[in-house]
Amino acid sequence: MAKILVTEAIHQAGLQALTQAGHHLVLADRNMDVIRRELPDCDAIIVRIIELPGQLLEQAKALKIISKHGVGVDNIDLDYCKRRGIAVTITPNANAQSVAEHAFTLMAALAKHLIPVSRKYRTAGFSAKNYAPGVELTGKTLGVIGAGNIGSRLIHMCRYGFHMRVLAYDPYLSQAPEGAELVPLDQLLAQADFVSLHCLLNDTTRGMINAQRLSQMKPTAFLINCARGPVVDEAALLHALQSKTIAGAGLDVTDPEPLAPDSPLFQMGNVIVTPHYAPTTLEAAIRVSRIAAENVHSYLSGQQPEGRLV
Ligand SMILES: NC(=O)c1ccc[n+]([C@@H]2O[C@H](COP(=O)([O-])OP(=O)(O)OC[C@H]3O[C@@H](n4cnc5c(N)ncnc54)[C@H](O)[C@@H]3O)[C@@H](O)[C@H]2O)c1
Repeated sequence: MAKILVTEAIHQAGLQALTQAGHHLVLADRNMDVIRRELPDCDAIIVRIIELPGQLLEQAKALKIISKHGVGVDNIDLDYCKRRGIAVTITPNANAQSVAEHAFTLMAALAKHLIPVSRKYRTAGFSAKNYAPGVELTGKTLGVIGAGNIGSRLIHMCRYGFHMRVLAYDPYLSQAPEGAELVPLDQLLAQADFVSLHCLLNDTTRGMINAQRLSQMKPTAFLINCARGPVVDEAALLHALQSKTIAGAGLDVTDPEPLAPDSPLFQMGNVIVTPHYAPTTLEAAIRVSRIAAENVHSYLSGQQPEGRLV
């Protein structure tokens, strides 16, 4: 029997599987006091987005595996884990469809001014129908930055479902993903009506969408970020939105998270913010929870888990 610290709420599916396998679970529910108290003798951690720096992990003397519930591992000190021989696993593809659908939903809602028109209907009545005409997605150009599991699903949806032209920028791909043309970043930014970010966060992508890159976008274009907040320079984005350099933004992730309640982003009619909510669907929650749990159990049983990074 192993002691497994689950830092944040996850679907019951994986928790039940671990309990049935005889493990002892500690559910911290984002409470850092509980996390610090329970760390020293835990064998495994299941983590969502809480930061796990080496300084904190040093206290986890018995730790053998960190199982990421999701795919973005920028919250885990991978170098420290490598040095200590702590395995790190992810749940590849398990929430990709939900995140791609969320990016699409943000695009469509922005294109149709869904939220401002709905609000206006409440206050101004039926005349709200002429308040802000939307645009069609069909025939428009989508630019996808990072065409991995999530980006390639969005490409497929938009190309074959909506007959959009799709441009992709991904320096690690030699061949264009099906349905898209691989282009340089400058071209993508200049031509896209929607720019959707699906790259990982690392030293090369941190702050990639800065003032200069935002100024390359069309004034009618929308930026979608379902990747990680720090990929976008948020001060530059605010300025671009306020000065109408771009038309609007759909942000599932921000920097910092959570977004401050008084952030101007909450007040802007041309911005939709969601609380890192893209993968929060029933289907993805079950899949990710099960796989994150299986990764822990199989590693502690001496097997090689799928999605092992370190
Ligand atoms: N909003 C959410 O809750 C949520 C959920 C899941 C994933 N994510 C984020 O989405 C990211 C992508 O997930 P995925 O499953 O598609 O990962 P993936 O590894 O399949 O794809 C990432 C892609 O980014 C590309 N890339 C790397 N550096 C790049 C750069 N400098 N410019 C452009 N592209 C670059 C890679 O080549 C790869 O194709 C994750 O790293 C994570 O940060 C967010």
